[in-house]
Amino acid sequence: MTEDDIYKLLSCAVQPRPIAWISTVSATGVNNLAPFSFFNVASRSPATLMVSIGERIGCPGEQKDTLVNIRDTGNFVVNIPSADSADAVTVSCDTVHPNIDEFDLSGMTAIDSQSVTAPSVMEALISLECETHQEVALGTDTLVLGTVVTVTSRAGLLADNLHVDTLAHPFLGRLAGPYYVTEMNRVAQ
Ligand SMILES: Cc1cc2nc3c(=O)[nH]c(=O)nc-3n(C[C@H](O)[C@H](O)[C@H](O)COP(=O)(O)O)c2cc1C
Repeated sequence: MTEDDIYKLLSCAVQPRPIAWISTVSATGVNNLAPFSFFNVASRSPATLMVSIGERIGCPGEQKDTLVNIRDTGNFVVNIPSADSADAVTVSCDTVHPNIDEFDLSGMTAIDSQSVTAPSVMEALISLECETHQEVALGTDTLVLGTVVTVTSRAGLLADNLHVDTLAHPFLGRLAGPYYVTEMNRVAQ
């Protein structure tokens, strides 16, 4: 199978996927924002997230700005987008010059994080500030493991028992192709 077909098959089989809306800052101070759905929790203790970053689109062998910035700074923020951020998430996935700030492109607000140099997305439901723990090279893709050092959430989102009312605050998930999913049809078992 071609690489393209394998990608299509995997992203069709493994869905819906959560979205890591990753904010980073470059060595020269340019903010960057991009969505990644090859993403999940890697360990509960120490709190660790994993995200898989492919090659720069249209430039085999070159890296996406997100990975370049993670390598340069050793940190990143995984922001969890709300269902109403689908348009902004899509805009922020454009491959643009490293000097272009995708916060400006997508109309999102960059705010200072508490523990890392990468900014956070003010409009996100939750922002998980990460320090890079390890990189694993996997062919065309690079798996990045990040230790979560600080978590902030939108005011009123987290209850005292750390539960989230996902009907009141719908999350955004990724389906195959151009499709997204929200939690409007959640079922309890
Ligand atoms: C919802 C969504 C999920 C995506 N997931 C991934 C992913 O898991 N891995 C990846 O390499 N690219 C993924 N992409 C594409 C990147 O977001 C895109 O290549 C982005 O422009 C990279 O930006 P950067 O060069 O600023 O890092 C996804 C795009 C969208 C819209």
